Amino acid sequence: MDNLGNLCRSHYSSQLKLQHLGEKVTVMGWVHKRRDLGGLIFIDLRDVKGIIQIVIHPENEAVFATAEKVRNEYVIAVCGTLVKRSEGNINLQKATGEYEIAAEKLYILNDTEPLPIQIEGVAMAEEDLRLTYRYLDLRRPRLQQIITTRARVTSLIRNYLDAQGFYEIETPMLMKSTPEGARDYLVPSRVHPGKFYALPQSPQIFKQLLMISGFDRYYQIARCFRDEDLRADRQPEFTQLDIELSFTNQEQIFALLEGLMHTIFREIKGIELPLPFKRLQYVDAMNRFGSDKPDLRFGMELCDLSEALKGSDFLVFKSCLEAGGSIKAIAIPGGAVFSRKQQDALVELAKHLGGKGIAFAKVAEGGLEAGISKFLSAGEMQELIRLSRAKAGDLLAIVADTWEMSCKVLSGLRNELGAQLKLYDPQEIAFCWITDFPLFNWDSENQRWEPAHHMFSMPKEEHIPYFSQPDKIGEIQGQLYDMVCNGMELSSGSIRCHRYDIQKQIFDVLGFNEEELKRRFGFFLDALKYGTPPHGGIAPGLDRLIMLLTNAESIRDVIAFPKTLKATDLMTQAPGEVDETQWKELHLKYEE
Ligand code: AMO
Repeated sequence: MDNLGNLCRSHYSSQLKLQHLGEKVTVMGWVHKRRDLGGLIFIDLRDVKGIIQIVIHPENEAVFATAEKVRNEYVIAVCGTLVKRSEGNINLQKATGEYEIAAEKLYILNDTEPLPIQIEGVAMAEEDLRLTYRYLDLRRPRLQQIITTRARVTSLIRNYLDAQGFYEIETPMLMKSTPEGARDYLVPSRVHPGKFYALPQSPQIFKQLLMISGFDRYYQIARCFRDEDLRADRQPEFTQLDIELSFTNQEQIFALLEGLMHTIFREIKGIELPLPFKRLQYVDAMNRFGSDKPDLRFGMELCDLSEALKGSDFLVFKSCLEAGGSIKAIAIPGGAVFSRKQQDALVELAKHLGGKGIAFAKVAEGGLEAGISKFLSAGEMQELIRLSRAKAGDLLAIVADTWEMSCKVLSGLRNELGAQLKLYDPQEIAFCWITDFPLFNWDSENQRWEPAHHMFSMPKEEHIPYFSQPDKIGEIQGQLYDMVCNGMELSSGSIRCHRYDIQKQIFDVLGFNEEELKRRFGFFLDALKYGTPPHGGIAPGLDRLIMLLTNAESIRDVIAFPKTLKATDLMTQAPGEVDETQWKELHLKYEE
């Protein structure tokens, strides 16, 4: 084994360009791959910026002998001359594929035990094993590229916001429960028996307090913690780019974020995003796409058939409409040829989403065929074709359920079929803003109103009088907005309620009593009384943004040390047990 001594790296692999040909260079990294061709040995040396080929000629006996000992993932340093590869060896697919380093010295800085997972090539091992050895998995070029892209993105964010007069300010991690609506991660206090800190679900309250303090423009690349059911785009511990501004409005916030996204996509992907982003009101997004996170890369819009089918005797439709539900449909392009099996798979998906099923009908030249067409009159058929803008060869997928469930099922089908039928270019980026959300949603299970976003958002000014009309609460719209891209919610935000009297009305609708309010948000309500400026903000999810920029399929790929779907860290074995004394110190007892 050699020592590093005074040896210094002259270049990272991908910094070597044709202009360096003939220069003496020193590179350091891992042996990605070694090929022994009898007469010659080739080593692919990998560092954080890429891979460079090293060639070792047998004339240099000492180096050749060392190279014979080298194995994959040994840590090496190589001094040599950058030379052009021989004709047959040139690989223009690779960044450094036209040249190689002819080794003059080769140092083995460290060896390795056999690796539990393979680094070179595509990831072969099960994800659990890769997460257990995450530090090795992170050596894979794909993950290195994602994590270093993430670092470039945060640097771009800081430059952009700093230039716009924002201050980066940290807010506490140990705090009182926040109002984002998920379950809190709690930290027991040793000093205050029986009391707990909560980890922030977001810095929402603190960023608003910073506006009250007068900092005017705040941002933070903030870690957030939410104990909720995990999915491909959700982690219990994730990062938001948290932003808040005073004396602002929705237009300014949109322009700020559009500029930021434009900069990031230009620098990282070389894409010039068309600005401004499309805008869709919540109601239109729901009616047209069945979702407040529509994927605008393709059509296949929903249509409402309730009116057209109001006279139908078909029991499923009749009972749905009698119960106040909606009948909606999509026309699946070319879907008339779908097999029974394909239709069944869609029905399964509908059930998985909570629906009861799907009624199908094939669109032919003269009308509808098969499926439920026998239950429809000629007039109804024509009306269905007209409303769904279906063409011969399409398949109508009809869902009769509550309005919410019809939207949910058809939007799920639409997303699935859009991908399956390749209705869009996966490289396309389609941003949009969703605006004019209702301020409150009705929670039918608990029979009460809940905030659609969070409880500190400002209603639209013209809807403030509705607070005194109980039947109009559901019509109150908030100054709320989401930024959506390719069907993914990237950010939520709102203009906040800066007036105590209006905030109080919101709490009244949500059914908080004075005592509970005081206990949970007393300090914040007090603060609102002391000269709060109008303010608003937004918080793009950084992990989801990186997923989009790197085409990562799982949020775990964009976080250096992620958790599994069961919120565990397989590498450190967290959460773990703690010893008896810690239980005692924290005044805790565990009961089955
Ligand atoms: P919200 O709860 O909508 O808003 O979160 C903002 C954005 O954060 C991302 N996000 C997540 N990413 C990964 N894993 C999760 N579990 C997760 N939960 C949310 C999403 C989401 O759009 N305080 C408000 C923002 C504001 O009003 O300024 C908030 O937290 O991309």
